[in-house]
Amino acid sequence: MVIVGAGIAGLACALRLPEGRRVALVSKGALGESNTRYAQGGLAAAVGADDSPTLHFADTMAAGAGLCDADAVSSLVESGPEAVRWLLAQGTRFDPGEHEQPALGREAAHGRNRVLHAGGDATGAEIERSLVAQIRARPGVTVRERSTALDLLVGDGRCGGVIVQDFATGHVTALRAPVIVLANGGAGQLWAVTSNPPAATGDGVAMAMRAGVAVADLEFTQFHPTVLALPDAPPFLISEAVRGEGAYLRNGRGERFMVATHPLAELAPRDIVARAIQREIAGPNEPYVSLDLRHLDALRMAERFPTIAAHLARYGLDLTRDLLPVAPAAHYFMGGIVAGTAGETSLPGLRAIGEVSCTGVHGANRLASNSLLEGLVFGLNAADHIAGNRLPDLVDVPRAASRYFRPPSAEDVATWRHDLRAAMSLDVAVVRDATGLDRASTSIARLAERMACTDATAPEVAELRNMTLLALVIIAAARRREESRGSHFRSDFPDTAPEMDGQHQLLLTTSDGQRLTYGRLSVALSPRSGTS
Ligand code: SIN
Repeated sequence: MVIVGAGIAGLACALRLPEGRRVALVSKGALGESNTRYAQGGLAAAVGADDSPTLHFADTMAAGAGLCDADAVSSLVESGPEAVRWLLAQGTRFDPGEHEQPALGREAAHGRNRVLHAGGDATGAEIERSLVAQIRARPGVTVRERSTALDLLVGDGRCGGVIVQDFATGHVTALRAPVIVLANGGAGQLWAVTSNPPAATGDGVAMAMRAGVAVADLEFTQFHPTVLALPDAPPFLISEAVRGEGAYLRNGRGERFMVATHPLAELAPRDIVARAIQREIAGPNEPYVSLDLRHLDALRMAERFPTIAAHLARYGLDLTRDLLPVAPAAHYFMGGIVAGTAGETSLPGLRAIGEVSCTGVHGANRLASNSLLEGLVFGLNAADHIAGNRLPDLVDVPRAASRYFRPPSAEDVATWRHDLRAAMSLDVAVVRDATGLDRASTSIARLAERMACTDATAPEVAELRNMTLLALVIIAAARRREESRGSHFRSDFPDTAPEMDGQHQLLLTTSDGQRLTYGRLSVALSPRSGTS
């Protein structure tokens, strides 16, 4: 089988399969360079003495703003403690707390301290380290690093392979397999300012759409409220765990504006904090607000957040002495390929796990630190499901089409990419309205037309095609949802429409990717069975 993506979901899936099972693991960057690696805050699981899956369920459902799939959430939170034990058995070292239990941090909208962390604020890096070490020693697993998946191969109504391109050589291969697992992450790079690494260009969702696979909830992108906003520095996440430890947010007048905004103040749900910050910075003053740790124990903060402190020091900022400039940035894609809790999709033979999938556990607004948990739990589930079923025969799929072998275009891909990201950041951001969405749609559609005239297949062009396709459907989904819910806020429709509770927007494309059909889905999002 083939697993595309080597973050927590793809690695957990590969490692949970019976040893010796032949797996090709495709990683867009060097192994270990996934989005998982940059997760700071941690992994949420109900492992504390005062906690329970029932409480974790309630917080997840509340954050999801009426759009979570209750069965999927139950499956997630109930499997959490067991999945953490699996991770410990792989050699992940979480920070220790009292009585030989892991230390548990607090993040927004969690009613309990339930966020396991490692190296203070280097949780994703530690998880990635431990799983990569295991995978390297694993018999049967072939790793294809610095390679990207271009498209799925479909025949007889099944997915039977994936076309993969090696970045270094440009060589294109069709990998045929009875099961393809997409675990290739999110789409933060569609926006000009993002906490995501460069590989997060929405490839998985775009290739699924081209293969006619159902996708949903595309209008829901989570903007992280506190990403470092220095004019000459790249965006850098300042974990929500910092506010969990008691940091304040202050506006240009020095006021703690969150106190008047929400009873949980700085620990209000992420969408509420992001919008409040956006309101504060919408004025003519500086394009950021400040995170303030000056009242907190300096030694403890330096110990708890060593990665953040070291990063700030590079720019002459002291974590606990300076006011830190922060602003919202695109962070997590709640929409994706409609998938069940073992990754089942609408296309037999294709599974989707982690951020690329839309299982309904995040609804309209993901609860902090539930994403590592989702990748882990449903990655393990997918492996168990695959191992428990007879592998189907290989299907006849068309060989890699010749269009994948044409030479790269001379067009200025960098300018197109810049224009797309600028349009998304201007008009498809924390606050949207019809005028802005239409403007973004027009300019990105023009871009798509220009790209359609090129026959280029250089990896960066393939990536940009994915970004363009995904941007257009995100905008269309945002335009069609005429209400505000969770991370999707329409200033022209500021209220939540009660009749839209539990209503997902489902999008189906024909298998040539040409025709789009929107549908509403008010029942459970996930296909529960029938595919392998
Ligand atoms: C953070 O550390 O603030 C990010 C954690 C998350 O997005 O779940």
